Amino acid sequence: MRTPIIASNWKLHKTRKESREFLNQFREKVKYISETEIALAPTYTSLDIVANGLEGTGIKLCAQNVYFESEGAFTGEVSPEMLAEIGTKYVIVGHSERRQIFRETDGMINKKISAVFEQGMKPILCIGETEDQRKQGKTESVLQNQLRNDLRGLDPEQVSETIVAYEPIWAIGTGESASPADAQAGCKFVREQIKKIVSKEAGEKVRLQYGGSIKPHNARELMSQPDIDGGLVGSASLDPDSFAEIISITEDLTKTP
Ligand code: 13P
Repeated sequence: MRTPIIASNWKLHKTRKESREFLNQFREKVKYISETEIALAPTYTSLDIVANGLEGTGIKLCAQNVYFESEGAFTGEVSPEMLAEIGTKYVIVGHSERRQIFRETDGMINKKISAVFEQGMKPILCIGETEDQRKQGKTESVLQNQLRNDLRGLDPEQVSETIVAYEPIWAIGTGESASPADAQAGCKFVREQIKKIVSKEAGEKVRLQYGGSIKPHNARELMSQPDIDGGLVGSASLDPDSFAEIISITEDLTKTP
């Protein structure tokens, strides 16, 4: 059985004060969650607030980005050591906003993933196609290339510990999620590819998230798909009620036979 994992991605939202307020409400709402892993990804300036606020809760700290070098003349960057030092467990790598706005390449993403593992953390690797690529029938080849290039050189154990988030770019921030069937098809394809490229065991073990306009009203159908092991939630994770509801729906599913 793969343990479901729901992670927030706050993107460029929430001051330190707002992060504290969120936590004060959120912690109470998810107290009873035992079968679903939860991770919160605030901005860098709120990481320590969230780290302190999560002490003793079992909720994991997640960073939204990292650089692959450990130190040096890299103005504006943060190293894996620095993230690990404050208790970060997961790092989002290769989000489409970083690929598109900040021109991150698969080569850089591949180096980031290795650097994250070297510091004992785990990557949440985001992959997904644009609307144009989808219309042109290129979804599978895009996913295949991203997986091949981003996971290159990792051992099977590392791949099985990577979380891969299938985030179709056309579904991000639009309020229109992929249909449960499309989200399942994307995740199934990713799992099959990992079985092929890496190993059958890694493909069976790897946890796959869907991301793109997950909301309380669509979470049940999306999270009940057989190849979807969790979600990466953007805007709905900014509100403690809606994020806790998505988690509670996921938890419920672990208890329904
Ligand atoms: P939304 O949930 O706002 O569509 O964002 C999804 C996302 O990009 C998570 O990484």
